[in-house]
Amino acid sequence: MRAVSVNASVKYNVYISSGLIGRSGELSALVAQPCRAMLVSDERVYSLYGRAVEESYAAAGYSVDRFTFPPGEASKNLGVFGSLMNALADARYIRSDIIVALGGGVTGDLAGFAASAYTRGIRYIQIPTTLLAAVDSSVGGKTAVNLNAGKNLAGAFWQPSLVLCDTDILRDLPGDLLSDGAAEAVKYGVLRDEALFDTLAAGRLIDALDYVVETSVCIKRDLVNEDEFDTGARQLLNLGHTIGHAIESCSKYEISHGRAVAIGLYRIARAAEVLGINPPGLSARIRTALAACGLSTECGYTADELANAALSDKKRRGGMLTLIVPREIGRCELMEAPIENLRDWITAGEGAL
Ligand SMILES: NC(=O)c1ccc[n+]([C@@H]2O[C@H](COP(=O)([O-])OP(=O)(O)OC[C@H]3O[C@@H](n4cnc5c(N)ncnc54)[C@H](O)[C@@H]3O)[C@@H](O)[C@H]2O)c1
Ligand SMILES: [Zn+2]
Repeated sequence: MRAVSVNASVKYNVYISSGLIGRSGELSALVAQPCRAMLVSDERVYSLYGRAVEESYAAAGYSVDRFTFPPGEASKNLGVFGSLMNALADARYIRSDIIVALGGGVTGDLAGFAASAYTRGIRYIQIPTTLLAAVDSSVGGKTAVNLNAGKNLAGAFWQPSLVLCDTDILRDLPGDLLSDGAAEAVKYGVLRDEALFDTLAAGRLIDALDYVVETSVCIKRDLVNEDEFDTGARQLLNLGHTIGHAIESCSKYEISHGRAVAIGLYRIARAAEVLGINPPGLSARIRTALAACGLSTECGYTADELANAALSDKKRRGGMLTLIVPREIGRCELMEAPIENLRDWITAGEGAL
């Protein structure tokens, strides 16, 4: 079993292995004495894996309750958050009880935020079931729900007590969900690790799944350890995300996060070449790696549409923006630029050399 230790305000382990669902109760008991456990899951994930998790927790001595909600980003809202808080209160959960988040990033963000707020904070355990949740959202303690005005506007930094990443579940994921998470793994490779990047570029995501998850989590862990509250180095994790968010917003969230980030990652690398910051070559390498993970770098929006979306997203003019620019595979730089320059970067990103 692979284990990654996170040393943030809370110390916890991320275990990565096959067969972890069946051991979830036993492993949780190492960090939280058997108590009451509220399993939080969307209905689709619950129907696939919920029973197995409940049985494992019950066998380890926990008294298990369940809160399920309809799958999808639309459930990451204050209404579902409130229902979960009320379910905890109605069942008389106390501060020493736990929440178990079984699912993708939506479940983890929602359950984590409820854990941060219920009785001013209870412990929670993440069991990620998408690759995106495994390599990104389950680690690092950012929790949130969406408000009408935008994504993730209400939330808290609240670290989990344990993350159990069962690679059997990830191996069974449908291809589009695998590709989504792979975009973030390629991002980690571009940020800090050429060997990880080359593994993905060689189309070895599934063969090397445990290694890919562990290496990605280690890179995220290092950035979280350095900058838990996101005021410095952690911003590197936004590589590809400024343009990615603009694509998500232009598509009214029809284009998934991972697919949008893949395009954003390629475009920022391309722009650095067109603007003469990098010699040609890097963006083509990134495009090849993304293609090997089933990710396209084309999108149907013009540079103007994307720039308008990105600038309205920033909701501020005249300020500075931090761009994350790949300089070579494994090394990126934070570059401060006037926010108005974003349009030039986005235009350059679709340009020919
Ligand atoms: N907290 C963070 O640091 C962080 C980082 C990145 C993303 N996020 C958040 O994560 C969310 C996206 O995560 P996601 O893509 O995992 O979304 P998700 O949780 O909605 O899962 C995507 C879909 O996959 C289904 N699903 C989940 N596991 C499955 C499985 N094993 N087999 C079959 N279907 C399965 C779900 O039912 C859902 O329909 C966004 O809300 C984003 O804001 C948070
Ligand atoms: Zn992301």
